[in-house]
Amino acid sequence: MDNYWEAFKKVSFRFYRLLTRLVLHIIDRLIELTILTALSVYYVAETVILTFTPSFLRKLNSVRDKVVLITGGAGGVGQELAIRLARSNAKVVVWDMNEKAMENLKEKIESEGHKLFIYKVDVSDKEDVYKAADSVKADLGPIDILINNAGIVCGQNLLDLPDYMIEKTYKVNVLSHYWTVKAFLPDMMRHKKGHIVTMGSLTGMLGTYKCTDYSASKHATIGFHESLWVELKTHGFDDIKMTLICPYLINTGMFDGCKPKNINMLEPKDVAKRIILAIRREEVFVTIPGFLRFVLPLKNFIPAKLCWAVMYRVIKGPQSMMGMRNFKEVDAA
Ligand SMILES: NC(=O)c1ccc[n+]([C@@H]2O[C@H](COP(=O)([O-])OP(=O)(O)OC[C@H]3O[C@@H](n4cnc5c(N)ncnc54)[C@H](O)[C@@H]3O)[C@@H](O)[C@H]2O)c1
Repeated sequence: MDNYWEAFKKVSFRFYRLLTRLVLHIIDRLIELTILTALSVYYVAETVILTFTPSFLRKLNSVRDKVVLITGGAGGVGQELAIRLARSNAKVVVWDMNEKAMENLKEKIESEGHKLFIYKVDVSDKEDVYKAADSVKADLGPIDILINNAGIVCGQNLLDLPDYMIEKTYKVNVLSHYWTVKAFLPDMMRHKKGHIVTMGSLTGMLGTYKCTDYSASKHATIGFHESLWVELKTHGFDDIKMTLICPYLINTGMFDGCKPKNINMLEPKDVAKRIILAIRREEVFVTIPGFLRFVLPLKNFIPAKLCWAVMYRVIKGPQSMMGMRNFKEVDAA
């Protein structure tokens, strides 16, 4: 009888322990769900309100006296960024391979009474990046804003892409971000402030004709940016801001020969203005134009064959890209 009683007590105790654990687990989940619901309501409301609040009513950070480094800053969007940031009294640093274009830009900016700091750097070469980063730190101290803007495109179908151009595209469009971030992030972490801006592309959200190298490299760039964002947030570096910019085609020459059917090419100065606004607002993710942010994810919800039909018949993506200019011109640039 005693044995039965002992066994009963044991089973009851185990059952009680299991029940307690289950109840605690349910309470834990309910608390999580309540917090998540509250956060969802708060963040969605915040986004909706901020979206419809005119810029002049929104809090904007100043870039005055901030050290801003722009890679590929002598090219289309880069130079528009440099000019506008210099006019806002930021200390602008441009890294580019194209010395002549940098000299011209420096002359233009200095003729307006502002300063520009230029360094010839090949961002695809990590030793060059680390060396130049040391020089910038010695000359200007730690940087406040890093804009990873340099990019190249080849514009050929896969079998026509020379191997070295595929490698070069990845080195410039993706790997360079590792080198620049590794060079400047430690200072940002030490000072618990900073801002990293990544130039992605809408082709990084949707595979594009003649862009097996470029589009894939931009997908990788977006993955790099988002993963780094998660790492920084996980480790409490909320004061290091990150902004991902994904623009449509821009009239800089990079996509010369393309003939967009539905949306006109963007102008580099408009893209630069939007990027600066995003930096000043600490926006996390920006597509240009903005409505495409809601359109592109639809590809995940519709059948793939319908996605292709929309791409070919409505957006006419492949047809727009057919005439894209030859890679040799890029190589020679
Ligand atoms: N032009 C577009 O349609 C478009 C669309 C979406 C995204 N983007 C992205 O925007 C960014 C800027 O594009 P853009 O149109 O102004 O390009 P651009 O060709 O006008 O300028 C790019 C600049 O990067 C420099 N550069 C290239 N390789 C370099 C290297 N290894 N090291 C240092 N500098 C290097 C070039 O000398 C040039 O000054 C790129 O990342 C591009 O992928 C462009």
